[in-house]
Amino acid sequence: MNVLVVGGGGREHALAWKISRSPYTEKIFCAPGNAGIADLAECADIPVTDIKALVQFAERNSIDLTVVGPELPLSLGLVDALTKRGLTAFGPTKKAAQVEGSKAYAKSLMVRFGIPTAAYKEFTKPDPASDYLMKAVYPCVIKADGLAEGKGVLICDSREQALDGLDRIMRRKDFGDAGKKLIVEEMLTGEEASVLALTDGEKIVLLPSAQDHKAVFEGDLGPNTGGMGAYAPAPVMTPQMLKTVRETVFVPMIQGMRSMGIPYRGVLYAGMMITPSGPKVLEFNCRFGDPETQAILPLVKTDLVDLMIECAEGRLKNESVELEAGSSVCVVMASGGYPGSYEKGKVIQGLGSIPADVRVFHAGTRMKDGKVVTAGGRVLGVTAAAESIGRAIEKAYQAVGRITFDGAYYRRDIGHRALKRKR
Ligand code: AMP
Ligand code: GLY
Repeated sequence: MNVLVVGGGGREHALAWKISRSPYTEKIFCAPGNAGIADLAECADIPVTDIKALVQFAERNSIDLTVVGPELPLSLGLVDALTKRGLTAFGPTKKAAQVEGSKAYAKSLMVRFGIPTAAYKEFTKPDPASDYLMKAVYPCVIKADGLAEGKGVLICDSREQALDGLDRIMRRKDFGDAGKKLIVEEMLTGEEASVLALTDGEKIVLLPSAQDHKAVFEGDLGPNTGGMGAYAPAPVMTPQMLKTVRETVFVPMIQGMRSMGIPYRGVLYAGMMITPSGPKVLEFNCRFGDPETQAILPLVKTDLVDLMIECAEGRLKNESVELEAGSSVCVVMASGGYPGSYEKGKVIQGLGSIPADVRVFHAGTRMKDGKVVTAGGRVLGVTAAAESIGRAIEKAYQAVGRITFDGAYYRRDIGHRALKRKR
């Protein structure tokens, strides 16, 4: 098969790597890709938002399966456009992708299907929202409804903070159209975990759970990023808990959407908070998590291409995957300054000295004068698997220590919760 991967981050490198190991795969293409993906795939310089060009590319190159990484092309209808031309694509339709594209929509589905989540209120105008915030209980959480690159969620300790947040979202429009609606949510406490499910719209396969590290600094301090590292499985997500999540979250969501005539096919990501009263959904994403996917895929033994084709064609056979024993850790190396401003074009050294059982997934990298240079905030995801989480962490950091570039920054405490739990 010819497989096209859409995207150019660490998640897409991990997907391309996993796809390259399938006996079904003949050739991989990636749009736009990066310097690491280029080792596995023929990269085409097409922006992920250029739906027309992507469909043309898929037709011209006889693509048998398109795998869409980021949310933006999904919410722009890439899967719909490919399907219309008779091409097979893994990912939800534009309508189904609204579970990530609109938080208010996702909340309304959760309420309708009885899925455990934080209590909330939705607002389309600033004045009623402001009245509500005057009387609300603090801390609370306010969220811009639409896609805001993970920045549209504000945890507010006081009324002043909340009113300022409301101002930013609805009046100053810091997040553009994403702030046309706003939701105010009850603050949940507990440990977070991500659960990803592959689905054909009816049957569901859960992947190993994972835990992301969103804050930029050690100890989970500082501003949120796209994710500074991840590990899988997350010990907080016990087999019993995973069963509960399957039964109280994924089954009602997938069956519910199907019964509404919006079958969800592809990967559905549930960001969970494990509260004292059980697991509750923080958010749904319509795509693989990044960096979670970099940690998860090395643990999956089952052929991913097979699974994705079955999902796309609505004929998923099995409801579980075969897994490798042990744990996997991904440490993100970022450009100094990220998630704020940072410089690009720094030469990355040491990539040739990494042990064969450690994988360095590229995110923001490109080739310049025959050298791999930095080209984004998150640069590399250094990923190692081992029989124990402790050993996986050691292996990943040993490899990180061999890689250098000007201003390289990484957290030294990826996996700290799992280690603490073990102790
Ligand atoms: P989201 O994009 O909705 O997952 O929110 C991003 C982050 O904000 C989550 O990973 C949580 O750390 C935090 N968050 C979101 N909603 C809540 C909530 N209701 N209670 C506590 N923390 C939350
Ligand atoms: N790592 C968080 C996300 O992919 O949404």
